[in-house]
Amino acid sequence: MSNKILILGSTGSIGTRTLDVARDFSEHFSVCGLSTYGQLDLLNRQIEEFHPAAINVTNPEKADDARALAERYEIRLTTGQAGLKELITLCEPDIVVTATVGIAGLEPTLFALEQGCDVALANKEVLVTGGALVMKKARKKGVRIRPIDSEHNAVAQCLMGQSLSKLRRIILTASGGPFRKLSKEELGRVTPEQALTHPTWKMGNKITIDSATLMNKGFEVIEGHHLFDLPIDQIEVAIHPQSVIHSLVEFVDGSLLAQLSVTDMYLTIQSALFYPERYENGVKPLDLCSLNALTFEKPDLERFPCLSYAYEAIREGGTATVALNAANEIAVRRFLDKEISFMQIPQIIRGTLDKHKTISDPDLGEILEADRNSRETAKSL
Ligand SMILES: NC(=O)c1ccc[n+]([C@@H]2O[C@H](COP(=O)([O-])OP(=O)(O)OC[C@H]3O[C@@H](n4cnc5c(N)ncnc54)[C@H](OP(=O)(O)O)[C@@H]3O)[C@@H](O)[C@H]2O)c1
Repeated sequence: MSNKILILGSTGSIGTRTLDVARDFSEHFSVCGLSTYGQLDLLNRQIEEFHPAAINVTNPEKADDARALAERYEIRLTTGQAGLKELITLCEPDIVVTATVGIAGLEPTLFALEQGCDVALANKEVLVTGGALVMKKARKKGVRIRPIDSEHNAVAQCLMGQSLSKLRRIILTASGGPFRKLSKEELGRVTPEQALTHPTWKMGNKITIDSATLMNKGFEVIEGHHLFDLPIDQIEVAIHPQSVIHSLVEFVDGSLLAQLSVTDMYLTIQSALFYPERYENGVKPLDLCSLNALTFEKPDLERFPCLSYAYEAIREGGTATVALNAANEIAVRRFLDKEISFMQIPQIIRGTLDKHKTISDPDLGEILEADRNSRETAKSL
């Protein structure tokens, strides 16, 4: 049976890799919708190849060019952030792949779930900001969130056929980023160019900076808490620079299961789209004997405090994780614009969390308001 997939953020790192999977498994998937923030040339090539029924161009400044593009291919067009929901209505997908970045993916993801679609979720900030709402909606509608984060996908694979009540903890692995060995002083001098060079994964700019600060791992702890309904104390992080083991689960008898593979998101995306089925693909097999060693160490929370801020925010609950995410989005943008130093990213997040007044059990409106207010705070610091 062929599934209709709609990709929000089709021009990004995850979006383009998802299309690689769709191309290779075209007998299983048809692409019914695509969206970009503003990369019209790439979107043009994607339309030519995959023939979607409708597209979204989110950046309102590109609306005129987007209209010309849609007319050329005689397909439906929606624009702006609100247009992402309209795109879902127009395309009637079976699976929505949320591969946008930041809180931008929250509303369309909730809408996709409301429409009864499964969601293959890469955009982790969706669960960081609205995890409780999203999981509640998925349960209510009887649809699945399929994780496209290699760590959570690894955990889901390790849990196949296992009883959750026998789980002791999950261990999320982290490469440690490009600055794992730098002192605090050296961290203060790193440039965006250096931070954008990830040692093991090739990804979009924001997640690459989040990996360098370890905020990415903090987000994944929050994501794991929601996805697997686990108390935060049962989620640990281990630095594993080789990025061969993508995560582990430990059961009450002390048995550990791990998922290993080469670092290629193709595999993770394929696994999420087909879950729980497996199919042969062209991904290079992992050559175990060519690996020198697999090493593990504890994260250093003094040099990389963002990880501890994530634990703190999830313990606080409510809108604290919204403030965490908003402050991080602003601080990363300011770092990339060379307005602040690398070590000022955690300072801005700390300052924003300190000023934030948490609302517990927020609805969508309260989440969006907390996001707006925290952005203002983070800009002012
Ligand atoms: N890359 C990875 O290996 C990886 C792994 C695990 C999880 N993730 C998560 O997956 C998400 C996507 O990551 P990525 O690396 O693919 O990012 P990316 O390369 O920056 O791509 C983001 C996509 O979203 C679009 N977009 C950007 N801002 C938007 C907005 N405000 N509204 C709507 N669309 C917007 C972009 O359009 P333009 O092309 O026009 O900018 C692009 O298509 C992130 O949340 C990341 O943390 C990524």
